[in-house]
Amino acid sequence: MGQKKLERFAAIATYPNVFQYPENMQGKWHSFFGNAHPIVLELACGKGEYTVALGGKYPDQNFMGVDLKGNRIWKGATQALENKMKNVAFLRTQIEKIANYFEPGEVDEIWITFPDPQLRLSRAKKRLTHPRFLRSYKHILKQDGIIHLKTDSPDLYAFTKDVIEWCRLDLLMDMPDVHSHTHVPDYLYIKTYYESLDISGSNKIFYLRFSIPEGWRDNEEAFTAYLKSKYKNDEEKAGQS
Ligand SMILES: C[S@@+](CC[C@H](N)C(=O)[O-])C[C@H]1O[C@@H](n2cnc3c(N)ncnc32)[C@H](O)[C@@H]1O
Repeated sequence: MGQKKLERFAAIATYPNVFQYPENMQGKWHSFFGNAHPIVLELACGKGEYTVALGGKYPDQNFMGVDLKGNRIWKGATQALENKMKNVAFLRTQIEKIANYFEPGEVDEIWITFPDPQLRLSRAKKRLTHPRFLRSYKHILKQDGIIHLKTDSPDLYAFTKDVIEWCRLDLLMDMPDVHSHTHVPDYLYIKTYYESLDISGSNKIFYLRFSIPEGWRDNEEAFTAYLKSKYKNDEEKAGQS
């Protein structure tokens, strides 16, 4: 491991705003923040651009960036400390385990910012909007809690729209090209590190806002079968090329 990474790991171990695989924090986040304000998560936060920017914009809400990589979290956590932001924190863990860290209903909103699109069908279960993840999100979100997805991947956008329809979720906003709209919520202009890289080459930013109602179609096995039948031909073509 490089020297810089080691220094960052050592730093976040001392930071009061970074929790690394914490035990027994479920149900205690409002006490940590010292208020009863809404709690908003940014999953796959990387350097935490959304967490820090939203924290500055909305002092009456609490924001938590979640990522596996401590050296990335270091960036946002350092900025939040330097700016004395009391409503910003970071949680280092795997998103697969997110339901272990919050009580049911403790979270108000979830942002998913430029997650890896996991393009191969065999990796669909790793996409952060797959029903496998939605079940955890539903568990920790309050009733009618909102999920935001911002991505530059047309594939992840199309997949998530499929999920929304198949799982009978409530679609609240759908922008297939954020910058072509005249009325855009100003928080969509916050730019993340990966957004600036434009890895997908789509030159577009896609945004979806949705919620998971009671009685959503929570059947991972049936969804997997649906997905396989829908994308079978594409996968066969990819195998031949
Ligand atoms: C493409 S980057 C996006 C980072 C940031 N949101 C941005 O837009 O710059 C994806 C991030 O997701 C994190 N990640 C991927 N899978 C994860 C998982 N299962 N649990 C926690 N973090 C994960 C990676 O560490 C990485 O920082």
